Amino acid sequence: MIYTICMMGKVDFFIDSADPQEIKKALSLGLVDGVTTNPSLMAKEGRKPSEVIREIADLVQGPISAEVLATDAKGMIEEGKKLARIHDNVTIKLPMTEEGIVALGWFSQNNIKTNLTLVFSPLQALVAAKNGASFVSPFIGRLDDIGHSGMQLIREIKTIFDNYRMETKILAASVRHPEHVREAALAGAHVATCPYDVLKKIFAHPLTDKGLKAFLSDAKKAGLSV
Ligand code: G3P
Repeated sequence: MIYTICMMGKVDFFIDSADPQEIKKALSLGLVDGVTTNPSLMAKEGRKPSEVIREIADLVQGPISAEVLATDAKGMIEEGKKLARIHDNVTIKLPMTEEGIVALGWFSQNNIKTNLTLVFSPLQALVAAKNGASFVSPFIGRLDDIGHSGMQLIREIKTIFDNYRMETKILAASVRHPEHVREAALAGAHVATCPYDVLKKIFAHPLTDKGLKAFLSDAKKAGLSV
């Protein structure tokens, strides 16, 4: 399975955050190929979303998802145009609704990158891909929360996209723990967007800590220095 992933392209890690300070810290971990934001994350910042996106775009080289707040296609297009002007890396995040799909058509025709969010079914993903979405964001944690399988959703989207050679990328969202990341990679998701605390947990293993402690203690006992 790992072989299949390697043959088909690379896996990207995005950070799910609108906090520039947190993003700066995550950059040093070498795991920030892009950023996803949403209105709830923006609300925590308490600043104008366009200002926050501009600041993030100065920090990160890679796609930055900025979400519209309008619920009608016309409003989404107007807001998306403003957000897209901030930086070439801005990806317009649209809700997976009928109006979102209408707006998606406009962005696709105008070669503006998009991320269809709040995807909870394989058919929603298929509709988004058919209409030219750059990314679809299946929310795996929120499905698990209601007793469904987020990972089954990723697997089904992957099969459908592979069946028809669709270029839309699967961006595993609502990631709650490293196990989600591992399973999403095995299922062939192209991106996992993780909160900062999940990114940090990817590095942690109790045997790494235990092993390092023992090595350093042996070195100290022997009076070693490099
Ligand atoms: O950015 C969207 C998504 O990752 C939200 O995650 O934890 O609020 O379900 P969560």
